[in-house]
Amino acid sequence: MLTEQQNASVAQATNQKQNQQKHQALHQASLLNKAEFWGEAAKALDWIKPAKTVLDESQAPFYHWFADGEMNTCYNAVDRHVLAGRGDQIAIQYVSPVTDTEYGISYAELQAQVSRLAGFMQSIGIGKGDRVVIYMPMVPETAFAMLACARIGAIHSVVFGGFAANELATRINDAKPKLVLSASCGIEPSGVIPYKPLLDKALAQAVHQVDHCLILNRSQCHADLLEGRDLDWQAALATAPWADCAALKATDPLYVLYTSGTTGQPKGVVRDNGGHAVALTWSMQHIYDIQAGDVFWAASDVGWVVGHSYIVYGPLLMGATTLMYEGKPVGTPDPGAFWRTIAKYKVKSFFTAPTAIRAIKREDPDGEYLQGVDLTCLKNVFLAGERCDPDTLVWAHAQLAKPIIDHWWQTETGWPVAANLMGTAPVAIKPGSPALPVPGYAVEVVDELGEQVAPNTSGNVVIKLPLPPGTLTTLWQNDQRYQDSYLSMYPGYYLTGDAGYTDEDGYLYIMSRIDDIINVAGHRLSTGRFEEVLCQHPDVAEAAVIGVDDQLKGQVPLGLVVLKKGVTISDEELHKQLITLVRQEIGPVASFRLVSAIQKLPKTRSGKILRGTMRKIADNQQYTAPATIEDPQTLELVRTALTRMGYADALV
Ligand code: COA
Ligand code: AMP
Repeated sequence: MLTEQQNASVAQATNQKQNQQKHQALHQASLLNKAEFWGEAAKALDWIKPAKTVLDESQAPFYHWFADGEMNTCYNAVDRHVLAGRGDQIAIQYVSPVTDTEYGISYAELQAQVSRLAGFMQSIGIGKGDRVVIYMPMVPETAFAMLACARIGAIHSVVFGGFAANELATRINDAKPKLVLSASCGIEPSGVIPYKPLLDKALAQAVHQVDHCLILNRSQCHADLLEGRDLDWQAALATAPWADCAALKATDPLYVLYTSGTTGQPKGVVRDNGGHAVALTWSMQHIYDIQAGDVFWAASDVGWVVGHSYIVYGPLLMGATTLMYEGKPVGTPDPGAFWRTIAKYKVKSFFTAPTAIRAIKREDPDGEYLQGVDLTCLKNVFLAGERCDPDTLVWAHAQLAKPIIDHWWQTETGWPVAANLMGTAPVAIKPGSPALPVPGYAVEVVDELGEQVAPNTSGNVVIKLPLPPGTLTTLWQNDQRYQDSYLSMYPGYYLTGDAGYTDEDGYLYIMSRIDDIINVAGHRLSTGRFEEVLCQHPDVAEAAVIGVDDQLKGQVPLGLVVLKKGVTISDEELHKQLITLVRQEIGPVASFRLVSAIQKLPKTRSGKILRGTMRKIADNQQYTAPATIEDPQTLELVRTALTRMGYADALV
């Protein structure tokens, strides 16, 4: 006889098996009948003109979803909820432990704020297709700014506040905005971070000149305005007229979001309006199990894709309440802050990065801050942004007793590629795996020649074209780079840049990057960019940067530099200067603290730095010197340097 508990687990297993079949059937249907599948999903939105052509393949490999459709993303995220009687419902619940402020903004208030800001933008000549850069902290005005752009068809480009002036200038030069929206400061646990000096520096550095800057003065720090160019947010909005929602083509760009590539020049991922709105709405229901009226919280930053998709657009398109949080998982004020916020605002689905859970675990390993916190409202916890190590997932599950859902995606895809469909067909959780490919994504694992590999064999993770709605349409004004970076290695497929494998049940495992991108506390950074900056130092001849394992942040950057002949700088001084340089040029978010001089870097005879081998040495993994190595002795130099820095401590 089975006990009650055994019976329950048998029932659960049967259910999960059935759900896996359901997930796979849905996945198959989405690929076999793309137009029908996404055409049906599009009915969840209001269209000015519904698309007759759901998928236009005539310009492959550039695909256009809902090509002849017309709509407005802001209308769908704001106005239609007011019209449907949700005007009094909280749209944005702002929680800012760093300023001790909490308030809710209803859908009706959101409509007023966004319409007025959009009206003001129109009054200074911003219209459809114009770019607007947004360099702002985690305040509701940042969401208003994005939605105001969407309202009038301007294309926003949000730059993360932790980036330095130089990175902002690079993005301004590429996006060529007429207007920048910014604030006087951001607030970090370390104190107030004035943004205006960074913006002024970026604008002085940029080749492209903007017409205006609209500055939100926060009470924590006052920003001086430059007459003629700078305008005060509150004053500008006081008299601004309301703007209506523009009729936009589904294929018109909604935003450009820059992300790290392998070179110092970031990639401007372009997202359209129609496909994006359809995919995000679908994902809110099917993946995150969120309906209109539910409360959703993505503890990320609007500067990242998670913030775009799941702080701003996804929850609002769904008519849910989105929680916007200006604080950290720990230290603002303690590791119980997330849990208390979830309980207080009845959050149903919560999304954060594994690194945040690791930070909480480090400070509260036994979950003492969970005691007495009623989390019955919370149904699921979602983790993404970096690989989720099984220990972190298992710990979170033990503490919270909720499903902990790892899911995998990228800035480019805009929404999950592999996930557990918690709203439709929850399947068994396997720690270390983001579960199964999501409907719309034909994921394959292939070898160097493009042949599919057997289960449990590692390879490059690729997605058969066309990608589903909501994914990148191209790189900003650079179709060629889009094709070269993503489509050229395996014709007919999108290269994700991730390596991994599938198991015998079809579960995907994402293990590492195949390029020189590293992931620091869920933030994606380019080692090539670090190297460029290190080489700006007058004493540095060459530099190599790799990502090394870090218990809290997953990875951190580590640099080795070769000094120019005859340079006599002390190690300590060099270290200090290089760290300051990276902070100034890339930003504090780079978390760059490990750097040392070395006599010579390991390279192939053709001059390619052997970063992969260096990484293996740092992580104490087995490696063999490549046959093409120029000087095998250099690997010993690397080992010695890394050992001195606390890595590569065991001889292999
Ligand atoms: N504006 C200005 N500076 C910022 C910033 C912002 N928006 N965000 C981060 N910074 C600064 C921090 O102040 C810090 O500066 P410091 O070196 O002077 O202390 C630096 O950038 C690194 O910040 P952070 O990455 O937050 O690291 P941390 O050591 O302060 O905190 C964690 C560690 C794990 C708590 C933190 O990284 C975290 O909350 N991670 C979650 C990441 C996440 O949600 N990612 C989203 C992707 S889904
Ligand atoms: P970003 O574009 O900043 O969102 O970073 C995307 C990259 O982060 C992916 O290409 C992966 O390398 C990594 N990543 C994100 N989520 C996961 C996950 N759940 N598992 C493994 N890697 C992930």
